[in-house]
Amino acid sequence: MMGKLFGLLGHPVGHSMSPAMHNDQFNQLGLSHYYQAFDVHPDRLGQAVNGIRALGISGFNVTIPHKVTIMEYLDEIDEEAKAIGAVNTVLNQHGKLVGFNTDGRGYVQSLQKVAGDALDKRILIIGAGGAAKGIYISLAVMGAKNIDLTNRTLEKAQELNRFCKHDLQSKVRSIEEAEKMLSHYDIIINTTSVGMSPYVEAVPLSLDHLKKGTIVSDIIYNPLETKWLSIAKHKGAIIHNGIGMFVAQGALAFEIWTGKKPDFEKMKLIVIEQLGG
Ligand code: ATR
Repeated sequence: MMGKLFGLLGHPVGHSMSPAMHNDQFNQLGLSHYYQAFDVHPDRLGQAVNGIRALGISGFNVTIPHKVTIMEYLDEIDEEAKAIGAVNTVLNQHGKLVGFNTDGRGYVQSLQKVAGDALDKRILIIGAGGAAKGIYISLAVMGAKNIDLTNRTLEKAQELNRFCKHDLQSKVRSIEEAEKMLSHYDIIINTTSVGMSPYVEAVPLSLDHLKKGTIVSDIIYNPLETKWLSIAKHKGAIIHNGIGMFVAQGALAFEIWTGKKPDFEKMKLIVIEQLGG
């Protein structure tokens, strides 16, 4: 079989770990495919997509800042991606470009590896940006019923809450309110960039009222263990970092493109290696 070309469209893409992760799996599965990152300026996204069509590139990932704007250039968008309002994975189906979103579902799958039946639990999401949206909608699509939102800017959390069309028992809480009633939650998820390198001392929410055994999840993977996760661990929480989400979104994209299941643990090793761990 002839090798196929896959890509990543982003701006910038210099530090992406996706090429190493996907190329290693192509090798491992004996596929002569290749994954290449392309730095595409927002003004040239349409031209880039035309290029993909003309060259017959088989599929690609989309990252910041193109996840929303890419949608206008595609032929079809899958339901979950539509509900989230963003696309991170595109499949070229004989010339028809179909958009998917594997970020939210990837996150939930990786969470379920530590949380078991995450969907039955009482969940608190911190943040109301693009990452929060993907996770919130995927949790809702996958059947979670009890998801509260908190955010520095309350109106943004209220807006996200209204945006979600699923039947949820979902409340919006101020950060202070969420901090006070923290023991109410079984799973607490940070989707903000608070605590990311280089501002590693910052925490998104106080964990004073955390109860033992709570699952505390941070989508940040640089550092691998944020200060917030480290406090949570010392208080007896089960912690979950952002590596699993990154790898799982890639694994789902890999399956969409090749129809084959990649080796999740090997992909994770490659990513940790890329991070210099
Ligand atoms: P992303 O796509 O990564 O989610 P985003 O859409 O810019 O990025 O959203 C960033 C989120 O992190 C928001 O919830 C933001 O809170 P505001 O809505 O109040 O801006 C949150 N955030 C970023 N920096 C923050 C900080 N220093 N303190 C608290 N929240 C912060």
